[in-house]
Amino acid sequence: MKEFEEHKHRLKNETMDTMHREFLDIYNGADIESTESLKRHLQRLYSHTVNHFAEEEQMMEEIDYPNKREHTNEHKKVLSEMEYFLKMEPTLFGRNMLRGYYSQILPDWFDRHLLSMDSDLVSYLTKAKGVLNAD
Ligand SMILES: [Fe+2]
Ligand SMILES: [Fe+2]
Repeated sequence: MKEFEEHKHRLKNETMDTMHREFLDIYNGADIESTESLKRHLQRLYSHTVNHFAEEEQMMEEIDYPNKREHTNEHKKVLSEMEYFLKMEPTLFGRNMLRGYYSQILPDWFDRHLLSMDSDLVSYLTKAKGVLNAD
């Protein structure tokens, strides 16, 4: 179970905050003991994340964001990791890997990505909006 923590995860951008809340809502629906449930939820997270990333990349495009390439590359990396785990054979090894990914790697990534790349994007967006409003 991973809660949305206001002080930590809220970036004060409504679109992004909503997507991040939804991500955790889906994430928390999985039963960690069930491979079938993990796969089903990972599949939902994947579909949600494709849209989530597309929205962010659209925002980057609009403000000519200087760190677009790094940010987009990390998005691509995460989607291919998800694809890898979705395709993984359900051997004992595969099931353990999937459980480790879902319970450790994915939530750690979520925190790290929000606190670094997404929060940087929000601060640029805020600045860009200020400039637009000043015109
Ligand atoms: Fe995000
Ligand atoms: Fe992002």
